[in-house]
Amino acid sequence: MFPLRRNRRLRTNEAIRSLVRETIISPNDFIVPLFVVEGKSVKEEIPSMPNYYRMSLDLLKNEAKELWSLGLKSVLLFVKVDDQLKDNAGTEALNPIGLMQQAIKTVKDAAPGMLVMTDVALDPYSIYGHDGVVEEGIIDNDETNHILAKMSVSHAQAGADIVAPSDMMDGRILSIRQTLENENFQEVGIMSYSAKYASAFYGPFRDALDSAPVDQKNIPQDKKTYQMDPANRDEAIKETLMDIEEGADIVMVKPGLCYLDIVRDIKEVVDVPVAVYQVSGEYAMLKAAAEKGWLDHDAVMMEQITAVKRAGANMIASYFAKDVVRYLQQ
Ligand code: PBG
Repeated sequence: MFPLRRNRRLRTNEAIRSLVRETIISPNDFIVPLFVVEGKSVKEEIPSMPNYYRMSLDLLKNEAKELWSLGLKSVLLFVKVDDQLKDNAGTEALNPIGLMQQAIKTVKDAAPGMLVMTDVALDPYSIYGHDGVVEEGIIDNDETNHILAKMSVSHAQAGADIVAPSDMMDGRILSIRQTLENENFQEVGIMSYSAKYASAFYGPFRDALDSAPVDQKNIPQDKKTYQMDPANRDEAIKETLMDIEEGADIVMVKPGLCYLDIVRDIKEVVDVPVAVYQVSGEYAMLKAAAEKGWLDHDAVMMEQITAVKRAGANMIASYFAKDVVRYLQQ
C-alpha cells in the first residue's frame, strides 16, 4: 500500500509551492501608521518601538515620498500633542491649523496620490489620556460623539480621504457620517475601529503619543468601559454589524495576532472590506525577540503578516510595512 494521496508532491520545490500558494503579500496590503510631532527636523525613535519614529512635518514630507516610492499608498496619521495644548474636551483637535490638519496637507503635498487616513479620538489631546470627555469619572459617550464628528469634519476640510474613529463610543459612526454628509463631505470615507479590544498590546503606542490614562483620582485607569473585553466574540460581530449599518465603509479588528478568530468570524458575515491593525505591542515583541537573537525577524514578520491576511484581512495597518516591502524587494 502507498499513501492514498501524496500531498508532499505539491511542496517539492519553490516553483510548485509558489504556484499553489493561497495568500500573497504585496505593498497593496498595507496602511502605514505615522506618528507626527511638533518641531523642525525632529526624528525621535520610540523607545519601546525600535526603528520606529515620531517625526516633524518637514521629515513627514520625505517619509511620504519614500513610502510612495516603495509602493505604499496609504497612511494612517497620529499626532503627539504638546502637554499645554491638552484639555478634557480635546479642543486642540478642532484647530484648523493644528498638527493633524497640517500633517494631512503635508502628506498630500508631498505625495498627491497617497490615501490619507486620520485617527479620530480624543486621547492624544486629552489631559486624562482618554478617548472621550471624562465627567465625574465616566467617559461621556454622547458629548464625545459630538466632538468626534466635528473633528472628522476638520480632518476632511484639511484633505483627509478617510477618517478612522478609534474611540469605541456607541453611535459615533452615525454621528460622524451624518455630520460629514451635512457638511458636504459625501466622498470622505469612514474606517471604523469596530472590534477594538481593551488590549495590553497598546502599551508602546501610548508611549509614542504620551497618551496613557493618567494616574489621578476619579480617572479610570483603563479603557474597559469602552473598548471590548478580550473574552468576547459575539460582541465583536454585533459591534461590527452596527458600525456598517451606521455607515462604516471599512471595518477593523484590533489587535491582530491574538484576534484572528474574530477576523475570520467577521469576514464571513460582512460585505465590506475588513482591516486588521497589527498593533504596537505585536511589533515590539518581535523586535525585542529578534534583538536577542531568539527569533528570525524577517521570517517571523512574514509569517505573522501572512497569517493576518489568511485569516481574512483585506488590509493591514502595520509598523512592519516598510520592512515587508524591503524584504519583498530582495
Ligand atoms: C487610541 C488608539 C490606540 C491605538 C490606536 N488608537 C491606543 C489605545 O486605544 O489606547 C493603538 C495602536 C497601537 O498600539 O499600535 N485611540
